[in-house]
Amino acid sequence: MTSTKKVLIEVTNLTKSFIDGPVATHVLKGVDMTVYEGEFVAIMGRSGAGKSTFLYQVSLLDNPTGGSIKINGHNVDNFSNEEKTRFRLTELGYVFQDYSLLPELTACENIMIPLLMQGLSRKTARDRAIKALASVNLDHRENNLPSELSGGEQQRVSIARAITHKPRILFADEPTANLDSFSSNLVMDIFKKLNKEDGLTIVMVTHEEEFGKMADRIVKLADGMVV
Ligand SMILES: Nc1ncnc2c1ncn2[C@@H]1O[C@H](COP(=O)(O)OP(=O)(O)O)[C@@H](O)[C@H]1O
Ligand SMILES: [Mg+2]
Repeated sequence: MTSTKKVLIEVTNLTKSFIDGPVATHVLKGVDMTVYEGEFVAIMGRSGAGKSTFLYQVSLLDNPTGGSIKINGHNVDNFSNEEKTRFRLTELGYVFQDYSLLPELTACENIMIPLLMQGLSRKTARDRAIKALASVNLDHRENNLPSELSGGEQQRVSIARAITHKPRILFADEPTANLDSFSSNLVMDIFKKLNKEDGLTIVMVTHEEEFGKMADRIVKLADGMVV
């Protein structure tokens, strides 16, 4: 069997500046990066290096100032906002450092939201959400509110939410930053399993060397550039 690596993400000369009145903050200063299908890439660098800003641009949560992003052959820069939303809902998953669960909804309902937004029926969305909870060993937590869960459990719900629609790429921004080492290891085990067993492409920001080393490759960002 020949193994031709397929380029999944191609970022070229990406720039992002924030303009606040007369003050311009140039955060990304021409980032180039290629991610291949099935890769697990860790993005590392000091606080303020631009890691979160980078992830926001590549996962279509924000609009870059310049450069281009190609995902699975699509020039996503040219997408309308509607196309971006649809693309995110179907092709991408995102895990935030602070979990970003809706506090008034149960674990199961939080996971159902993006599926309902995709147009799935409540029944199908619920079935899929329960399966996703089981895949992160939280089947017994289906009806709990986020406030009734530990930080580690909330992050696992957030991972379940990010993978129920079977995205092509999973983005995670410092997913273990607020967790103790036991919970962090559970989260990393889930990521490794998703990558190795399901072939999911993962782009994870971390400042923890220990977890960065678990990826196939580390990309270092410093002062808005790859070093
Ligand atoms: N919305 C914004 N407006 C102005 N500056 C911002 C904004 N978002 C981020 N920055 C600045 O960009 C730099 C990089 O931020 P960030 O991408 O969050 O870094 P990291 O995730 O590597 O810690 C920081 O100096 C931050 O203050
Ligand atoms: Mg950050």
